[in-house]
Order: sequence, then structure tokens, then C-alpha cells
Amino acid sequence: MKQDMIVILDLGSEKNPQIAREIRALGVYTEIHPHDITEQELAALPGVKGIILNGGPNRVVDGVEIDASEAVYKANVPVLLVDHKGNAPWPKDEAERKESLRRFVFDQCGAEANWNMENFIADQVELIRRQVGDGKVLLALSGGVDSSVVAALLIKAIGKQLTCVHVNHGLLRQGEPEQVVEVFRHQMDANLVYVDAVDRFLDKLAGVADPEQKRKIIGGEFIRVFEEEARKLDGIRFLGQGTIYPDIIESGTKTVKAVKSHHNVGGLPEDLDFELVEPLKMLFKDEVRACGVALGLPDSMVYRQPFPGPGLGVRCLGAITRDRLEAVRASDAILREEFAKNGLEGKVWQYFTAIPDIKSVGVRDGKRADEWPVIIRAVNTVDAMTATVEDVPFALLQHITYRITHEVKGVNRVLYDLTPKPTGTIEWE
Ligand code: XMP
Repeated sequence: MKQDMIVILDLGSEKNPQIAREIRALGVYTEIHPHDITEQELAALPGVKGIILNGGPNRVVDGVEIDASEAVYKANVPVLLVDHKGNAPWPKDEAERKESLRRFVFDQCGAEANWNMENFIADQVELIRRQVGDGKVLLALSGGVDSSVVAALLIKAIGKQLTCVHVNHGLLRQGEPEQVVEVFRHQMDANLVYVDAVDRFLDKLAGVADPEQKRKIIGGEFIRVFEEEARKLDGIRFLGQGTIYPDIIESGTKTVKAVKSHHNVGGLPEDLDFELVEPLKMLFKDEVRACGVALGLPDSMVYRQPFPGPGLGVRCLGAITRDRLEAVRASDAILREEFAKNGLEGKVWQYFTAIPDIKSVGVRDGKRADEWPVIIRAVNTVDAMTATVEDVPFALLQHITYRITHEVKGVNRVLYDLTPKPTGTIEWE
């Protein structure tokens, strides 16, 4: 293995992710594992130079104060006890903690600062090959950051043993399905099954106005299409997943309750019994992006803004119709083009258009005509729990308004949503 590792064992601290980030900032790779890791599991981790038993306020699980197994204390590497068995917690000062981490990691453990993407990729390639052998792996490739990066990593590790399935449900942004085919089939020479399921999704969604119902239909139909494709392929034992570390944190650990349940391709029938391959599961989002860049993925894929799973389906408000869906897609493309041209692309966290299911009267070619309004939303946030509205220059909003009302069929007005979250949410549905 190319990189050294410090293992953090979760003994009820809320600071596990923070400590992990601070050790990685020192240039040393680190992974967080549950307190009850077995001797065998610990021995199987590559390059371990030291262990931190990270105690904290969530130390009581099911009424019992937790501890690590004896084997951990007897491991052949230095062990640091923090806020556990009477040992002091981390120093409160951000600088002092860093110094104590630095002393442990470098002076006591003798770790080298060799955590970088090149070494991470080299190690993961080896681990994937070890796990998969000559088996076959299936991956649902949406074109989002996480699935794209995991696809690129799996292609590097096992090439044609990987089959990617891209389901085009008709609710993606302009150019996205084409980019997936171009990058993965043509540039990376991957086995890519492209499924045109547009009619199937839109037929199922016809007349459905309730947002939660729409989400259920889109999610459920996605599983069914993916399952059908999986059954057509022979001898697949593994399922690749773009799980990343925040997904795991939000799903809860043994000591911290779930914030929300995480599912990438959850809900597959049990007879499709796959073993998971999740090579990004210890990476934070910015590290996933760095990994994508190192693997040669285009910036437009790696740095793309968050996009909801149900896609444009929740931005074509109310019952989806094909003409309004096309108007959402076209107006979104204009907004993205103008934000990119005007230096807002990497600056604004999320921006998009939505079209309500109403018409208002306007003037088109000298005649009164009823057409839709387009709503522009552009927000900034850290965690999507609250959000503020971007102060987009008025002249730019006027220019975008002109383009949308003149280039997008059926749209005669543009509105800018000035509402922060709360009281609004980021999406309209
Ligand atoms: P809201 O609208 O709740 O959105 O303020 C917060 C963030 O979540 C995204 N979002 C979704 N993502 N499936 C997703 O994968 C969904 O159903 C969904 N709904 C909202 C939204 O785009 C924003 O980034």
C-alpha cells in the first residue's frame, strides 16, 4: 500500500469527522471505524500506523458504556485515548489540538505525510482488484459527481469487468445524457448500457401533480428499469455504489442517530443479491471531486452543482407535461450558460429554473397570448438546511429574462425568487 493510515475508532465522539479532516489536512490518510471492530477487520486494514480511541458524549449505546476490544489495546501500533477511560478530551483551542494530533501522528506513530489522490487511487485500484477478482460489477451511472467518480475509478481498476447502466428518465438537464455517453463510452471505453426510458417515465407521471407521488414514481420506476437491465446481464456478483462519507454520517453510526436514511440504489429485490463495492465511502465531497479530477473527468462533471434525484421532475411544477418540461430544460440551460459567462458558475451553490402550472396573459407578435412564467432560483448554503438568495446583478437578470422570453417556447414572463430558506425551501416542490 502506498499510504499510511491512522484509524479513528468511534467511541461516542461527535468530532470523528472533524478529527479525520484535521489528520488528512496533515497529509495523512485516516479512516473512522466502529468501536467494536474485530481483530481480523483491524488487521485487514492496510498501512495502519496508529489508532485513536475517540471517546465522547455518545459513549452509552443501548444502556451500556462502550469500549474497544482488547485486541485494539494490544495492537502493534501506538494507541491514543481521548475522552475515554479517564483520559482528557481534545483541547478546545483549534491550534492546540492540531499540535497534539501532529505529535501523535508523526512523532509517536512515525506516519508519513503521503496522503494524496495519486496514492489514494493506486491503493483503491489494488483493493478493488482484490475484492472483485475476476468477477463482474454493475453500476448505476446517473452522471452525478459521486457515480461518475466511482465509475472512473472502477474503470481504471477493472476495465470491462464493469458494466455501467445509465437510465435516461427524461428529467435530466440539457446535454447530460449525451455527456455521460461521450465521456464514459467514447473517452473511457467503458461498457455502458444506455437506456432510453423517457417515454416510460413520462407516461407513468402523466397527470400526477402531487410532488411526493412524483418522487415515488420516479424513484420506484428507476429501480425497476435498473433491475430489468441487471437481469439481462449474466454473472454479476458486485454492485458499485457512489456512497461517500457524508452519506454514512447522515445514516447514523453505532453511536450517533441517523439524520436521514441513505440509499443510492436501495430497494433492489433480494434475489439480486449483490456484494457492494464502495471505494469512495471514506471520502468527503471535496476529496471526491479531487479524485475525479485526478482520474481525468471533465470539470463540468466534477464541479457540477447539486441536482435532485427526481431531476427536472420537481421543477416542472404540478403534473408534468412534455412541453413545459422542455421549457424548464431550455430555460435552465440559458441560466447556466449566462451564469458561467458571468463568473457565477463556481460561486453560487445552486441555481435553476422552475415553471408553475399556470399561465398569464402577455403580448406575442402584437397579439395577446397566454403563456407560462419561468421562476429563477439562485441560492447559497453550507448544508442545504438554510439558504440565502444570491444578489444577482439586475442587468444580468434583465438579459436572462430577455433570452428566456425570446428563446423558450411558451414563456412570456420571468420572476426572480427572493425568498431565503426558511421560509422557502430551495426547490419549489
Ligand atoms: P429543499 O428544497 O428541501 O432542498 O430546500 C435541499 C436540497 O436537497 C435537494 N433536493 C433533493 N435531492 N432528491 C434529491 O436527491 C430529492 O427528492 C430532493 N429534493 C430536494 C435540493 O435540490 C437542494 O439541494
